[in-house]
Amino acid sequence: MSYICPSILSADFSKLGAEVEDVLAGGADWIHYDVMDGRFVPNISIGIPVLKSLSKAVKAFYDVHLMIEEPHRYVEDFAKAGADMITFHVEAEEDVDATLDQIHSCGVKAGVVVKPKTPAETVFPYLEKADMVLVMTVEPGFGGQKYMADMCPKIRAIRDEADRIGKKDLLVEVDGGIAADTVASAASAGANVFVAGSSVFGKADRKEAIQSIRDAADAVLSV
Ligand code: DX5
Ligand code: ZN
Repeated sequence: MSYICPSILSADFSKLGAEVEDVLAGGADWIHYDVMDGRFVPNISIGIPVLKSLSKAVKAFYDVHLMIEEPHRYVEDFAKAGADMITFHVEAEEDVDATLDQIHSCGVKAGVVVKPKTPAETVFPYLEKADMVLVMTVEPGFGGQKYMADMCPKIRAIRDEADRIGKKDLLVEVDGGIAADTVASAASAGANVFVAGSSVFGKADRKEAIQSIRDAADAVLSV
């Protein structure tokens, strides 16, 4: 099964609740929530108070992607604000194991993220514990960038290692440049969770946009 997760980074923030309701009505499985601190990435987005208001107003599965230094300092606050999944970058955290435990102890699903230049093997020690691995298919920081097809061997290596250790239910998420014409490449490499920002929120008909991404992914995953 594939999960389609619109990234609200490309939504109209002046009417965020309505934007999220629109993509949920259009069939979105999760809502991807990008947090940037201007240090780990060269951009600043949204944080804890916005998630708190949004999750109260609109019920959904909130997939919170932390692109921040020292993510463990903010895990509890994001959990309390309504996060259902929290992912953080292995490049930004000294004690990855402890942070995964911390997220789980808040009753939230936990995942690790790798930037394009970080090798697959970096996350192997955490596959047992993590619910998800997010493989960035652009340099994190901005929406609307070009999909990096050369991340496919990394996606494949992580999926193969998860299979090897018997973790068939590991979610492998991709984020960056995902659209109807790029999703098949990531899906055939082993990804099953697809973040899509501009290719959903940039379209007038979100339902059609989500369906076209899902169809292209499922055509590969059902083979
Ligand atoms: C980038 C963010 C992404 C971004 C994706 O740093 O993590 O979630 O919103 O946007 P698109 O789908 O437009 O590449
Ligand atoms: Zn993201």
